[in-house]
Amino acid sequence: MGFLMSVLSGFLLAMVFSVSNGDPLVPALCIFGDSVVDVGNNNNLSTLIKANFPPYGRDFVNHKPTGRFCNGKLATDYTAEYLGFTSYPPAYLSREARGKKVLTGVNFASAASGYYERTARLFRALTLTRQLKYYKLWQRKVVNLVGRTNATNIFSRGIHILSAGSSDFMQNYYINPLLNRVYSPAQFSDILMKSYSTFVQNLYDLGARRIGVTTLPPTGCLPAAVTLFGRGTNECVAKLNKDAISFNKKLNRTSEKLKSKLPGIKLVVFDIYQPLFDLIIKPAESGFFESRKACCGTGTLETSFLCNARSIGTCSNATNYVFWDGFHPSQSANEKLAQSLLEQGFDLIS
Ligand SMILES: *[C@@H]1O[C@H](CO)[C@@H](O)[C@H](O)[C@H]1NC(C)=O
Ligand SMILES: *[C@@H]1O[C@H](CO)[C@@H](O)[C@H](O)[C@H]1NC(C)=O
Ligand SMILES: *[C@@H]1O[C@H](CO)[C@@H](O)[C@H](O)[C@H]1NC(C)=O
Ligand SMILES: *[C@@H]1O[C@H](CO)[C@@H](O)[C@H](O)[C@H]1NC(C)=O
Repeated sequence: MGFLMSVLSGFLLAMVFSVSNGDPLVPALCIFGDSVVDVGNNNNLSTLIKANFPPYGRDFVNHKPTGRFCNGKLATDYTAEYLGFTSYPPAYLSREARGKKVLTGVNFASAASGYYERTARLFRALTLTRQLKYYKLWQRKVVNLVGRTNATNIFSRGIHILSAGSSDFMQNYYINPLLNRVYSPAQFSDILMKSYSTFVQNLYDLGARRIGVTTLPPTGCLPAAVTLFGRGTNECVAKLNKDAISFNKKLNRTSEKLKSKLPGIKLVVFDIYQPLFDLIIKPAESGFFESRKACCGTGTLETSFLCNARSIGTCSNATNYVFWDGFHPSQSANEKLAQSLLEQGFDLIS
């Protein structure tokens, strides 16, 4: 099965590359959500949740930290490459997001943001509402650059990716008694689903027709979750994974409803739970040897989930680590995830 999948993804990649041959497969790529996809918006905010210092970015182009919560590329960076783009959508709040460069899309994501507005506000990140406001301003710029007709085509044929929910659970619900004493995980998920529906509906009303949303990862297997909630064991926290699976089922059902309500929409739920879980449970099958400890910040004792230049025990080579820090996959895991997204996302390019 693993072999077949890799042959298949190799085939898809070859096909995508031969089709693209210069021009990207879609006119634009716009990205919304949290730290899984943030490429530097938080650098320009008065938030503590940032990744613009070493060792973040040490394996990225130029080996410089950018604000990405990773040693190198994010899964969406690989996605941009697979789609034939020669640059990554710039962070909306960065200097690069100027002039004609914005025509191929922009990244609005902000670490510690989520479906629940208060998660983002707690950490002074960009709420999804704010991200959508910036998206509207971006649309206005595009219209000014290429005119209404061309712009409408860019909005409807461009791909929009949303990655949220992890911070709502990990950085809010599970550690916030004001939420977890009041709502069950299922009730909290229902609140998040309302916000998700509204977001997709608003994007649709603005002319977006190709939207992909990622599921929750196996949150119980994130090194930080094992440290915080694993009660001294070194195992994935079953309860958190169960909550993630239930959330993901709701995300699928809500998306099916949206599809039946919004004519002409292409809406794909990207499952990142299973591909990441497979890497964690069977790392050797994909060439990894460490799927419990993060390369940076969790150290051998897993006492902290912070990663910075003073962290003790940061691994010298993250290539064989599934996790870069306590919450985020390494570049090599992101590459595997992106291949899986490509297989799942064919509807969005066709
Ligand atoms: C964002 O931050 C960078 C580096 O801190 C700075 O150079 C840039 O001017 C800021 N951009 C905006 C739009 O504030
Ligand atoms: C709009 O699209 C047409 C057809 O693709 C193209 O010829 C024209 O240059 C575009 N206009 C602008 C301002 O980019
Ligand atoms: C929901 O799950 C079903 C069964 O796995 C799948 O066929 C369908 O494409 C999913 N819906 C969306 C919107 O991804
Ligand atoms: C890290 O390890 C990988 C695989 O073991 C190897 O190919 C790569 O060259 C190493 N990188 C560095 C910087 O040592």
